[in-house]
Amino acid sequence: MSTMPGGDLKTFSFTPESLRIEWQGGERSEYASLWLRDNRPVDRDVQSGQRLVDVVDLPAAPRIRAVAAAGDSVTVEWGDEQVPASFDIRWLREHSPGGGHRPPELSITFWLEGATLEASRDLAWLSLPVFRSDSTRRLAWMTRLVQEGIAFVSEVPSTEHAILDAVAPLGLVMDTNYGRVFDVRSVPQPENLAYSDRGLGLHTDNPYRDPVPGFQALHCLIASREGGENIFADGFAIAEHLRRTDPKSFATLTETPVLFRYRSKDAELFSEKPLIQLSTRGDVRAVHYNNRSIAPLQLAPNTVAAFYAAYRGFALLLREPRFQVHTKLHDGDLVVFDNRRTLHGRTGFSSARFGRHLQGCYLTRDSVLSETALLRRRVERDRAR
Ligand SMILES: [Fe+2]
Repeated sequence: MSTMPGGDLKTFSFTPESLRIEWQGGERSEYASLWLRDNRPVDRDVQSGQRLVDVVDLPAAPRIRAVAAAGDSVTVEWGDEQVPASFDIRWLREHSPGGGHRPPELSITFWLEGATLEASRDLAWLSLPVFRSDSTRRLAWMTRLVQEGIAFVSEVPSTEHAILDAVAPLGLVMDTNYGRVFDVRSVPQPENLAYSDRGLGLHTDNPYRDPVPGFQALHCLIASREGGENIFADGFAIAEHLRRTDPKSFATLTETPVLFRYRSKDAELFSEKPLIQLSTRGDVRAVHYNNRSIAPLQLAPNTVAAFYAAYRGFALLLREPRFQVHTKLHDGDLVVFDNRRTLHGRTGFSSARFGRHLQGCYLTRDSVLSETALLRRRVERDRAR
């Protein structure tokens, strides 16, 4: 674990309601008495770290009676309770309200002006042999994948299902009605327009699913020789751009439920969500944009015009070339992207003379974040040795 700057306690004071700490670096933290009482180390299972008490076991308004600091710990006593609680100072620093440690996996780097980017130069790339053997470089790559929403691997063998071996260190592959691996190549009478020669506008995959696939991997086994360029855009950055330039439309898209639907002979999938989904903090948490799978909208007639104006405004932003990075996957290239953030599309191509074949799979979001954090833990532990 990294050493926190100013992690040492300088001085403290308390009232019955809270404990205040000033750290060596001058920062201040305040811990509510009830919060401290709920986080007594003794109320956690030693093995799992899981909490052993329920909220109803807590006193409603515990009052701090005494505080003492010694060595690496701070001891707190409450009201007429006999047992004091001892808190590790480093733990208190890490859990400082609002100022606690934020894992790098949760930091986002926006790239609004995609057209200024050269994918091979400005986005994360590793060859498969390095990706497999060098955990430090894989950690850097995975960190960029979660922060920037896209990253590439080269030298993946152009063999069927090689994608599963390649993405194994990244997380858990989702099984869906398309299978664990789906083929993207042109077929007669496709059940999905992805399996044709058509160009596809920028979109996210499978908004009709719940949960929506967190990450998508696409492995290019055979690149098209005529057309078939890949296009990507940062949906979070474009949504934030819309929030700045047209807050009313932004609000409409975050508040209007949209039904997405997919039907085939062996699937009946549907899920309702707004096109732009916010976290409880108000940050953009997901963009769901797939014109092919929006069901007929169920809008009150007097809200139709406002919704369509906002929807059209967002769609026009997604068509702006300055927000798009164009690249072309070559044989053996694999791209991984955040499917709730990074929109993808392609230009049309001709498969009449030369076939194009990609294989894809989806990974669960939590498993990718977990593997990244686990790898960080292992790399930092090895570095400390
Ligand atoms: Fe797609």
